[in-house]
Amino acid sequence: FHDVNPQAAGVLQRNGVKSWTKPAPSLYPHQWSWDSAFIALGLAHVDNRRATGELEALFSAQWKTGKVPHIVFDPEAPPKSYFPDAERWNSNGLSEHAPTGPHTSGLCQPPVHALAVRRIWETAQDKDERGVEAAREFLTGNYPRLYSWHRYLSTARDPERSGLVTIYHPWESGTDNSPRWDAPLSRIAIGDIPSYTRYDVQHVADASHRPTDEEYDRFLWLLEMLKKARYEEMDIYGSHPFLVKDVLFSAILVAANEALLEIGAVVGAPAEERAQVEAWIERGREGLEEQWDPALNLCVDRDVLTGESLRVRTVAGFAPLISGGLDERRLKDMLLTLDSEDFAGNPTLHRPLPPSTSPDEPGFHPRSYWRGPVWPVANWLLWWSLLRAGESERAASLRHHTLEELAESGFAEYFEPFTGEPLGSGEQSWTAAIALDMLA
Ligand code: DGY
Repeated sequence: FHDVNPQAAGVLQRNGVKSWTKPAPSLYPHQWSWDSAFIALGLAHVDNRRATGELEALFSAQWKTGKVPHIVFDPEAPPKSYFPDAERWNSNGLSEHAPTGPHTSGLCQPPVHALAVRRIWETAQDKDERGVEAAREFLTGNYPRLYSWHRYLSTARDPERSGLVTIYHPWESGTDNSPRWDAPLSRIAIGDIPSYTRYDVQHVADASHRPTDEEYDRFLWLLEMLKKARYEEMDIYGSHPFLVKDVLFSAILVAANEALLEIGAVVGAPAEERAQVEAWIERGREGLEEQWDPALNLCVDRDVLTGESLRVRTVAGFAPLISGGLDERRLKDMLLTLDSEDFAGNPTLHRPLPPSTSPDEPGFHPRSYWRGPVWPVANWLLWWSLLRAGESERAASLRHHTLEELAESGFAEYFEPFTGEPLGSGEQSWTAAIALDMLA
C-alpha cells in the first residue's frame, strides 16, 4: 500500500482551508465536527501543527454550554454551496449560548475529539523536546474544553443519567439516513417548512447516493423545531418530536472518556474531574448493556418518547465493542455478529467489510448513504476497537481490506458493498485520515 500514504496526505492538503480542513472538496465546504476529529487523528501522523490547528479552530466555536457544534461555517465558502446555511440555523441570533464570533449549526456530532488529542500526544513522543512541549501545551489548553464538552453530553444530553446520550436530530448521529431512525422519523407530523433548495445532490454523481427529499423534509422540520425552542436544552427536552438514545454516539463518548483520563493524567487534571470521568465511563457501559438485544446479538438505540428499542441491524450495533471493557461472553457475541451474513461474513460482498446496514434489513439500500454502503470511517472504528480488545487477526483483516479498497478506488466517502463502486464524494478527508492512521 506504499502509494496510499502520500495520496492520503495529498487529499488532506488539497482540502485544507486556512487552519482547518473541509470534509470534501465541494459537498461539505465548511468545518464539520467529527470529520475534523478524524482529520486531526490522521494529520497527527503528518504534521502535528496542522492537527492541533484543526481542533483549535473547531473548539474556538464551542458553545458556552460545552457543546461543540456540528458545523462551523466558513464565511468565505462559495455561495449556494451548502444548505442549511448559517442564516437558516441562525444560532447566534437565537441563542445566548452560541459563540459570539463564528457562525455555527445548533447541533453536535459524536465526540471523537479526545481520541484525536490523545493521538497527537502519542505521535509527539517521537519528536524532539520542543515537539513534546508543544503537544503538552496543546493538551493543557484543550483539556478543559474537552472536559466541558463531555460534561455537556453527560448532563444536558442525559438528564435521566442513563449513561446514554440523547440526540435531537439524525444529523447528530452522523449516520443521517440510517434505518435506525426510520421509526422515530415516521412518527413526526411535519408542519410548514420555509422553502429550500438542496445543494448536496448537485455535488454527487447520482442523487440516489444521498438521503431522499422525504428525509430532507423531516430533517428541515426538526431544524425549525429546534429554532422554535431557541436551542434551549430543557425546552427541547420538553417538546421536541425526536429524542433518541444513540448507542454509537454513547459508545464513542465512553471511548473518548478513556482518552480524556489519559489526557488528564498528562496535564495533571483535578482528582475530582478524573473521578467524574471514571463514573461517566462506568455509567456509559452500563447504559449500553441495558440496550443489548439478545435476539439480534447487537446493541440497539432507544426512542426516549416511546421507550421503544429500535431493533435494526446496523454497524451502530457494535457500540459495546467500541465502548470497550467487554467481558469474554459479550466480546464473543460481537465477533459472532461481525462474522455473520448480516455483516462482514456475507459471501456476496465485494470484500469482507461490514455494510453500514445488514443487507437483510427492509430499510437496506446498497447505494444510499448509511442504508448499506461500506464506510471506511466505520471500518476504522471497528478496527481500532478490535485491536484494543486484543482481536489482532480480525483487526488485520479489516485494515487490509479497507486499504485495498482505497488503493483500488480512491478515497471515496463510502462504497457499494457488493461491487466496491466508490460513492458520495471523492477525495473525502476522513477517508484519507483513517488510512494514514491505519498505515502508521
Ligand atoms: C450533510 O449535510 O449531509 C450532513 O451530514 C449534515 O451534517
